[in-house]
Formats: sequence, C-alpha cells, structure tokens
Amino acid sequence: MNDAAKPLSATTPPLGAAIRGEFLLDPDFLTVNHGSFGATPRAVLMAQDQWRRKLEEQPTRFMRKVWPGAIRGAAAKLASFVGAKGEDLAFVENATVGCNAVLRSLSLQSGDEILALDHGYAAVRNAARHMAERAGGKLVEAAIPYPHPDAKSIVASVARALTKKTRVLILDHITSPSALLLPVEELIALCRGAGVPVLVDGAHGPGHVTLDLDALGADWYTGNCHKWLSAPKGCAFLWARKDRQEELHPVTISHGLGKGFAAEFDWTGTRDPGAFLAVDAAIDFHEKFGGAALRRRNAALARAGAELMAKRLGTETGADASMQVAMWLVRLPLNGSTNQERVLRLRDRLIDEFRTDAPLHALSGAIWLRLSAQAYNELDDYARLAEIAAKLSGRSN
Ligand SMILES: Cc1ncc(COP(=O)(O)O)c(C=O)c1O
Repeated sequence: MNDAAKPLSATTPPLGAAIRGEFLLDPDFLTVNHGSFGATPRAVLMAQDQWRRKLEEQPTRFMRKVWPGAIRGAAAKLASFVGAKGEDLAFVENATVGCNAVLRSLSLQSGDEILALDHGYAAVRNAARHMAERAGGKLVEAAIPYPHPDAKSIVASVARALTKKTRVLILDHITSPSALLLPVEELIALCRGAGVPVLVDGAHGPGHVTLDLDALGADWYTGNCHKWLSAPKGCAFLWARKDRQEELHPVTISHGLGKGFAAEFDWTGTRDPGAFLAVDAAIDFHEKFGGAALRRRNAALARAGAELMAKRLGTETGADASMQVAMWLVRLPLNGSTNQERVLRLRDRLIDEFRTDAPLHALSGAIWLRLSAQAYNELDDYARLAEIAAKLSGRSN
C-alpha cells in the first residue's frame, strides 16, 4: 500500500483509491480538481436528503418548530470546527454571497477605494468593482509577484497599495488561480495599523487549513463548506466580528431585519435547508478520515504530486511548501501564446480527450496547471496526470 493510501491512525480508515466508493465520482474520470467544486460523500448527501424529507413530512411545522433550532445547532457545530462562536456565524449559499453581503453593507463614498489582490477571485473583484464604482470610487489591485512569491514581498505590495482612501481590503485566504496560502495574519496586522478593515475570502479555507477565526483578527471571514469540507453544494458561512455585526446585512433583506445578525441571515426567504444542515455530517466525515491529520496528509500529497509532475515535465512548481497547501501549481512546458482562448482550448481537451480536469491559468507569461489532493487521491493520480500534461503540451518524453 503506498503511503498516501495508508490510514492515518489505528482508528481511521485507509485513504486514496480505497475510499473512492464513498463518493459518487465517475471511476473513469481522473478527479484531481477537488478545489473547484469539492465532491460530496454519499453519507453527507444522505444526511442532506434526510433533512429534506423531514421538511416535506410537514413543511410548516418544520419551518416553525425545527428549522430555528436546527440552523443554530449546525452553526454552533461549524463554528467550533472553525474556531469561532455559533452566534458570530451565519450560513450563506457560497463565498460569493458572503463577500457580496459584506461589500453591500459598506457605506462607500465618492473617491473611496476597495483594495484587493490581483490574484483575487475574479467574480469577487467584479463585485468589489461594481460596489466601488457605484459610489464613485474604485477598485485597486495590489500585485502578487509570481512565481516563487514570498510573504514579505506580498505584504510589501499591499502596504504600497494602501492609501488614506482605502475602505476595506479583500484578502483571499488561499488564492484561486495560484493556490497561494497568503500571509493573512501579517496582512491583517498591517491593515489594523492603518485602520482598514479586512474581509477574508476563505472560499478554500474550511477543511483545507486549520482555522481559528476568533484568534485571526479579521473583521469578516467567509468560507465555503462545499469545497474542502465536502458539504453539499450551497453550504458556506459568513463570520463577523461582534463589532461588525450591527452594520452587516444579508444580500436579501427579509423578516429578520433589525432582529440581529443571526436572525437576519437565518431567514432570507424560503430555502432548501438540506445543504446547511448536512454540514454536521460533512464535519463528521472529515473527522472520521483524520481531521487535522487528513489536512496535513492532503498537503503532503499535493506537494509530492506537484514535484513529481514538475520533474516529469521538466518545469517547476509555482511556490514552495510554505505557500501552497493541498492545491499546487505546476508550469506546463508550453511556449507561445498564453491568451485565454488557448487556455480554454487546452482545458477542454483535458476534459474531452483525456477524461480529467484541472484549472489552467496564464500567469507571468506561462500556463500553469492547478492540482488538488483530497482523501480519495493517491500519488499514482499525479503520475497519470503528468503523462496527460506531457501529451497535452505536445511532449511525451
Ligand atoms: C478565492 C475564491 N473566492 C470565491 C470563490 C467562489 O466560490 P463560490 O462559487 O462557492 O461562491 C472561489 C471559487 O473557487 C474562490 O476560489
């Protein structure tokens, strides 16, 4: 049994290919892109379905008598998993919604600036640009040096971009195109010193890295549970520091307006409760396979997979192990254009021709592949991916 397939302790099950049957994943497709949309285990889907059935047995009774306690119970369990208190955390459908709620709650004035990083998630930067420009302000983007960035140069880049007009910094915990674990603690300290609040976009945080939100010092943190925690799609949260809760409102204003943070977010109109309430089963699944030890194992596996690929392709990884966790970037051995059309064409070939998928991004004049490692992966997956990447790049030796 290879190392990545071994159980992490005497009481946890084996990992890798041995547990693929826990998921609905197509066995004829090489799944090495957990980062984009996660993959939800059968046990968690079953829990989601049970909540739906419970609702449908008697909808009004469920909404009046079960939902208020159930949603707060799920919030308390998730909060304890991310180092927070249940009363400071509310469910939202996804990190995009979480970021939009914070951005829409800001009282921006003409000339104000929202600061983000150039590797920030494009959809969230769109939202920030929209809110800033609507108020007569603008979005400013601090550049991340790439490849081989270091924490110091990222902090310096943000420090240079902060101005007296900066009203908020949006900071990805782990960036989407480059999979960088950003130095969030240092950046939050920098912004605190400058009186600038920080929204952490932790779309990739929960279940990927260990979180301690009460200690982190951010003003707001939004995290997806449907990615690395393998909760059903549409399960995410927004955490807000106590002093930020009064001014914060959901994107959809409903019955809870004026009744406090949890009441406002817990009811934003009729929704399917299954995804939020199944977070309980997702946390149990994650813990059953090792919890923190699983997160460390996934990081080590992603690193080994990326190093194996870079060696096979004769290229390099995008950053070192201090800045990448369970997603790593590997440069493809391609010359020529890095335009979007070519990148999309290559990605389509991965899916249609090679029956696998991985995000491809053009960064600093090269095309990079982002791999992910989750409980169901093992090292052989990346050996296969390396051969595919070599063929895709037109080099098979
Ligand atoms: C940094 C970041 N923010 C936000 C998102 C959006 O997540 P969702 O589609 O669940 O809102 C992603 C998705 O990959 C992301 O990587």
